[in-house]
Amino acid sequence: MIKFKVPATSANVGPGFDCFGLAYSFYNEYKIEKSDHMLIEGCDPAHTTKDNIFNVAFNATMKKLKKKGSYHVYYKPNIPASRGLGSSASVIVAGCKTANLLYGGIKKLSDDEIFQIASKIEGHPDNVAPAIFGGLTASTKLLDGTFYHKKFKVSKRLHFTVLIPDFKTSTEMARKLLPKKYKKEEAVAMLSHSVLMIEALQSGDFNLLKTVCKDYIHEPYRKKLIKDYNYIKKNVEKNGDAMLLISGSGPTLLVISKNKNFGKKLKLKNTKANWIIKPMRIEK
Ligand code: HSE
Repeated sequence: MIKFKVPATSANVGPGFDCFGLAYSFYNEYKIEKSDHMLIEGCDPAHTTKDNIFNVAFNATMKKLKKKGSYHVYYKPNIPASRGLGSSASVIVAGCKTANLLYGGIKKLSDDEIFQIASKIEGHPDNVAPAIFGGLTASTKLLDGTFYHKKFKVSKRLHFTVLIPDFKTSTEMARKLLPKKYKKEEAVAMLSHSVLMIEALQSGDFNLLKTVCKDYIHEPYRKKLIKDYNYIKKNVEKNGDAMLLISGSGPTLLVISKNKNFGKKLKLKNTKANWIIKPMRIEK
């Protein structure tokens, strides 16, 4: 029996749509062993069929390894599904890792090879990359269809809290809401914001972060899917020492604050949904 865990992630982090993600010390946990037939336990039975993403990722990795075999996995899905915390990326990475750990032998695939397989299945690399490499990872899909990533450090002067609601949204639907075209001014702002956001996250320069965390690609179109968004944004940002972003495609919200205890002190009264306030450490 081999045990491992894969972290939750927040993709986008403001202006890094489909490009950046953060990994947290909050994980799905897996126990795996070789088996002559597929057996998935611990999760919702709806996720135990042959076409589930864990099995798809396992099979894609076995193909790359040129191996045959199956598995028994028991997993604890701590990361809530359909909340914008990279639960599907975590499961895909876990399926790839399971094949590699059980059947890779002495010729195991590298993390970069796993990243290629997992990103192809997920379609965009921004959750998969931090789930594999940790920390703040920027990634891109190159025109030849391969994926590239680069990891950055995250300043200890910044603190992260996720606000997880009791309702779900679908990434597929949240992607369909986005316009097909953007104005040139918005595209230029996004290029500059994303470069400067990486600098703000590395240096911990909160004033810079406040200036450049604004996103024009997805947040304006997705916030309407998130009950309480306007109320929470006003509440979080009122003193100028914390900023609110959408985690991935939502509906989880991400607070980046100067103060370590911001998440512990935050009170959300009069909300339509129930929100869990969860301070997060960055998983390096
Ligand atoms: N970048 C993706 C999106 C992340 O915002 O649609 C989905 O988890």
